[in-house]
Amino acid sequence: MRKITAMAKELTSLPSLTADLTETGIPSFPLSGKTALVTGGSRGIGASVARQLAEFGADIAINYRSKAPRAQNVAHAIMALGRNALLLQGDITNQTDVTSMFEQLQSEWGRLDILVLNASGGLEKGKSAGYAMALNLTAQVNLVMAAFPLMQPGSCIVFVTSHLAHFYGVKPVHDGYGPVAASKKAGEDALRKMIPELSRRGIRLVVVSGDLIEGTITPKLLQRQSPGLIEERRRASGSLPDVEEFAAAIARCAIPNTYETGHTIYVGSTE
Ligand SMILES: NC(=O)c1ccc[n+]([C@@H]2O[C@H](COP(=O)([O-])OP(=O)(O)OC[C@H]3O[C@@H](n4cnc5c(N)ncnc54)[C@H](OP(=O)(O)O)[C@@H]3O)[C@@H](O)[C@H]2O)c1
Repeated sequence: MRKITAMAKELTSLPSLTADLTETGIPSFPLSGKTALVTGGSRGIGASVARQLAEFGADIAINYRSKAPRAQNVAHAIMALGRNALLLQGDITNQTDVTSMFEQLQSEWGRLDILVLNASGGLEKGKSAGYAMALNLTAQVNLVMAAFPLMQPGSCIVFVTSHLAHFYGVKPVHDGYGPVAASKKAGEDALRKMIPELSRRGIRLVVVSGDLIEGTITPKLLQRQSPGLIEERRRASGSLPDVEEFAAAIARCAIPNTYETGHTIYVGSTE
């Protein structure tokens, strides 16, 4: 485990995102003093969520699986915003790793206000048939249970998913993505079943579902099996969201009094 901490310092200029929020009446730093854990926070969508939560004022724990330098880069960006960063290496399908991550959080910060369940997968080569379920269902539920002792009333969990998974069983899925979509849908359903327990604890659950996201790896992998997929989807929906836009919607859910528990935010066309 590796840790980076930085003392909070005054920001000299407001990022455009926080300036936009000021116009809506939401304070510039609505997450000031809060702590967040972003799974899979070392790259892509997770890295952008981590940075945007830090722009809102939160200290960020970045979970990453293997590439420490990438996670360190995200940590440095968070520290440049004057927030604290904590690096938590761990495979979330490994219970020992998960236990260790939360022990670190407990000893460093003593609490967790925001849990962003972003890490996902299942298209990796060489994984067992049950891996997608282990990652997108079992690991997600285990993370929530492990987080309970650190989460106080007023905390928030954000589950990140795709339209392909959210509408699994209702809308068709591209070749090869079926097992991943089924497992992410199972993960979402399992978390929603936990809402009564979450509500007893004063914890909100918000789900954010996205269309294919421009420039990311997953649609490119899917396109190998379904040539023309991205262009076809772009044409059908008008335009596809980009990483920053999707991440902004995810980060915004963590702001208190935005969305009620069980709410689903859709980013990009659902048609
Ligand atoms: N890309 C899209 O078009 C799209 C659309 C809609 C929704 N989403 C959702 O957005 C989220 C992020 O997607 P993405 O496209 O950014 O995915 P990605 O590029 O494949 O990144 C996945 C992230 O999850 C981490 N991860 C995977 N398996 C892990 C494990 N066993 N333990 C710990 N971390 C693990 C990876 O860590 P390492 O880097 O260490 O491997 C990586 O940071 C997912 O929930 C996805 O369903 C994506």
